Amino acid sequence: MKKKKIFIKTWGCQMNTYDSSIIANILQKNNYKISSQEKNADIFVLNTCSIRNKAQEKLFHQLGRWKKIKEKNKNIIIAVGGCVAVQEGKKIFDRAPYINIIFGTQNVHQLPILIEKYIKSKLSILEINNLKTEKFNFYDNKKIFKTKEIVSIMEGCNKFCSFCIVPYTRGREISRNYKSIISEIMILAQNGVKEITLLGQNVNAYNFLKKNGKKVYFSKLLRYISEISQIKRIKFITSHPCEFTEDIIEVYKDIPKIVSFLHLPVQSGSNKILQLMKRRYNVNQYKEIISKLIKYRNNIQISSDFIIGFPGETKEDFQKTMKLISEINFDMSFSFLYSPRPGTPASKMKDNVSLEEKKERLYILQEKINEQTLSWSKKMLYTKQMVLVDGPSKKNIMQLSGKTENNRTVHFKGSKKHIGKIVPIKIIETSRYNLQGKLI
Ligand code: SAH
Ligand code: SF4
Ligand code: F3S
Repeated sequence: MKKKKIFIKTWGCQMNTYDSSIIANILQKNNYKISSQEKNADIFVLNTCSIRNKAQEKLFHQLGRWKKIKEKNKNIIIAVGGCVAVQEGKKIFDRAPYINIIFGTQNVHQLPILIEKYIKSKLSILEINNLKTEKFNFYDNKKIFKTKEIVSIMEGCNKFCSFCIVPYTRGREISRNYKSIISEIMILAQNGVKEITLLGQNVNAYNFLKKNGKKVYFSKLLRYISEISQIKRIKFITSHPCEFTEDIIEVYKDIPKIVSFLHLPVQSGSNKILQLMKRRYNVNQYKEIISKLIKYRNNIQISSDFIIGFPGETKEDFQKTMKLISEINFDMSFSFLYSPRPGTPASKMKDNVSLEEKKERLYILQEKINEQTLSWSKKMLYTKQMVLVDGPSKKNIMQLSGKTENNRTVHFKGSKKHIGKIVPIKIIETSRYNLQGKLI
């Protein structure tokens, strides 16, 4: 029988992208073919994000297009998963009755079964439930290896920041067994992987309860992973300042493989706003973490997320955020206007700042961060950087490109033998994100 073709579309965070790669792997194992084009696909899968309203709305824009395709071919199956699926549940059927399957963030590995069930019964399926750790069993099944890979170590969130939908759509924090994480990384290492990024909504909340009643915490996990000799770089996203504990800071002293670049979202520089956001730390506590890290890594670069225009944010609050941006000298940021999310406490707070004012604040913030990104890059001029080489440069096919520890792309003249290796490069030209270099 001809293999059914599946087209998957994803947006949102890395966790969602990761989930889509699990979906693709499992479907392939079950005799489906992954198609990179909508054309001729038999099954359409949408893995959605709901972090801000704009992201959520993308679902119905996309479905509108697919509805037209389905009108021409009634046999097409449409499945919707991800955070909007969990948030809206069966309401999505009401708005788009031509959808066949809705599945939750903890049900991605069940998709082949759900598709089969639908094909047999032709009845629409809603499968959203929390299966705890079952999804983890489907993680280490890769066949093709890149030089850098993402490894999921935990899922979910218990923090309930007042603005955020994630705890409702991803469920509570659960940690994957450290033995399974290590064995996955060992396989990756044996297949040429040099850099791994540990993934989770709050990686530093990682804690795995062993049979003997003792816990393996995030710092211990980092130490275990650092012992795998072929792995040269360890990164992680995202960590939360409220659990960035001493033992994790100590790891920066002992393990050079942990990169000197940390994404530690602060969200705001005003204690009043942080409290309204229910972030569980204040500005001084945040600064203290960074100062301690600088003690071990004087060149460490910090990036952050910012929410602009949170309810009650005054000009003074915003100025405090700008002051913190200068003090920490953040290298990069993901900054967005606050978007009220259904069912969250912040969505009921009074918001009396105009959209125009918020947009202006966001613009000012982003301009400042851009300046700082450039100045960090300029500091790299004529320095030696270790670059993990990805392959031919997209900008100039006569060159190779790769990444520094701090996520800059470096273009340089090299040869095939350098691909997949970490090589020393002298930086000879800089712009904000792209650098030109020379092999040393
Ligand atoms: N767990 C991570 C962040 C996950 S969500 C942490 O706590 O840092 C990624 C980012 O989306 C958040 O850091 C926040 O800046 C942004 N975000 C979340 N909810 C939002 C909302 N309602 N409006 C605007 N931005 C939001
Ligand atoms: Fe959302 Fe806060 Fe959890 Fe991050 S820590 S995912 S912002 S609730
Ligand atoms: Fe979006 Fe869900 Fe990730 S809301 S940011 S896909 S956890």
